[in-house]
Amino acid sequence: MSESKPSSPKTSPMTVPRFAASKGKRLTVLTAYDFVFAGLFDRAGVDAILVGDSLGMVIQGKSTTMPVTLDQMIYHGEIVVRAVSQALVIIDMPFMSYQVSPIQAVENAGRILKETGAGAVKLEGGIHQAKTIRALAEADLPVMAHVGMRPQSVRKLGGMSRVQRDEAALLADAKAAEDAGAFAIVLELIPQGIAARITKELSIPTIGIGAGPDCDGQVLVSYDMLGLTQGFQPKFLKRYADLNRVALDATAAYIRDVREGTFPDEAHSHS
Ligand code: KIV
Repeated sequence: MSESKPSSPKTSPMTVPRFAASKGKRLTVLTAYDFVFAGLFDRAGVDAILVGDSLGMVIQGKSTTMPVTLDQMIYHGEIVVRAVSQALVIIDMPFMSYQVSPIQAVENAGRILKETGAGAVKLEGGIHQAKTIRALAEADLPVMAHVGMRPQSVRKLGGMSRVQRDEAALLADAKAAEDAGAFAIVLELIPQGIAARITKELSIPTIGIGAGPDCDGQVLVSYDMLGLTQGFQPKFLKRYADLNRVALDATAAYIRDVREGTFPDEAHSHS
């Protein structure tokens, strides 16, 4: 098994300034949590890879993202960074790693960037996190914001799939995040008209998920996009493959071959 970075860089690596200057350029972002998928998405040419705290649900099988720890984000983040040579790697700050104070946020974002080598962090919040976003930006720790449906605030928002519709509040959140120094912003689960207005009024790129076609870019949870996850079908999700079926069929074929004695055969044996 090779541990080396994937080859074939086509362009120069994506940086925070280039990403921030790519307003209107249809940026592509996917989540990744491990070496194999991160390397694959990088070779496919995605602009940024988000090590999302969605790993709590996708990888750990929990019902929310809230139990994910800072050490777990750093563990997965370091693995992803090692696999990537072109895309910008952004790492989520997990629940309660920044909400206590701007100082807590600076210390923990510093740990994330120092111990993983990633390019930026992401946190959830707009107006209520403006001081923290400012503190991170002033410490030269690039930060992406995330407004609309914020999974870490699921208790307050009343459910993971609740479309957020308060236009004035969403706009105020997005503007506060931009004013405080966020270099980009995720808009999650908001009506497309509101996302279009925010995108028009902000000068930083908006990255949508369940926010319609008018954002500056798009992010999806890769396991959903590839059809690895089951039983989750929000309206916004387009599955580009059915890897769950492929993996199930392959596993069933392996079990059958071993049980029937057709594997290992001569071609897979040493003389
Ligand atoms: O954790 C995550 O994967 C995210 C994306 C859904 C934006 O925050």
